[in-house]
Amino acid sequence: MMLQVRAFQLSNVDVGRSWILDPAELTRAALFSGELPRRRFLAGRLVQRHFAAELLGLADDRLEIDYHCPACGQGSWLNHGRPGYTVEGRPVPLVLSLSRCGDWAVVAGQLDADLTGAVGVDVEDESSTAFEGFDATLLTDGEQRLTLSTPEHSRPQLRAQLWTRKEALLKALGTGLAREPNGIDVVADPRVRSMAPEPLGLPSNLVVAVAWLALPPRR
Ligand SMILES: CC(C)(COP(=O)(O)OP(=O)(O)OC[C@H]1O[C@@H](n2cnc3c(N)ncnc32)[C@H](O)[C@@H]1OP(=O)(O)O)[C@@H](O)C(=O)NCCC(=O)NCCS
Repeated sequence: MMLQVRAFQLSNVDVGRSWILDPAELTRAALFSGELPRRRFLAGRLVQRHFAAELLGLADDRLEIDYHCPACGQGSWLNHGRPGYTVEGRPVPLVLSLSRCGDWAVVAGQLDADLTGAVGVDVEDESSTAFEGFDATLLTDGEQRLTLSTPEHSRPQLRAQLWTRKEALLKALGTGLAREPNGIDVVADPRVRSMAPEPLGLPSNLVVAVAWLALPPRR
């Protein structure tokens, strides 16, 4: 099966089904001080679980989370990091990634029997990179040159594309922003691709990138 990428509107999700989530997920949800961020967190975890279950052909309440953080470790007790699931203690043959932006979430996943691949997805609003110092702090020298040689009116979209490509790749690598984004050039990296938002059902102001890595077999 090919890499699947799907978008979801979080306000359409029935968070009354949050009882199917795992205790670590509900504990993290309880830490949000605002109702809207809590609701969006829960909705994202629900759509991700449902998406994973559908690819696996299983009921969504059979999955148990198995997150991985490079700093904290891995397991059902962990409420952050790279997503994954187990069923009856065994890792499911699926690699997965999630990103939220406002009322939207994008989930990418692929069945991977040997778990030798990794996926990363990111969605951002085009305006999210419009701040002083973005280029100098977060882009490589080559990316900064490309931005400067691009007509001014196209720069916000280019910056958002570069940023989503970086975050998608850093999620696939599993490090997230623990690795410096200005040390990773994504202009022509074949592991990452930008996707148009409209075919996914997303508003046109959103920018999406997906990264796919083939890792060496573990055995
Ligand atoms: C991961 C990160 C790039 C997220 O970016 P963002 O634009 O704020 O948020 P997004 O909605 O796009 O992505 C959030 C999702 O990224 C995923 N994610 C988090 N850390 C990840 C990692 N190390 N690798 C892969 N995916 C990760 C999770 O699925 C998370 O969803 P959740 O909120 O349901 O847990 C960024 O927050 C980050 O790097 N954080 C981790 C830094 C770190 O490792 N700190 C040490 C923690 S102890």
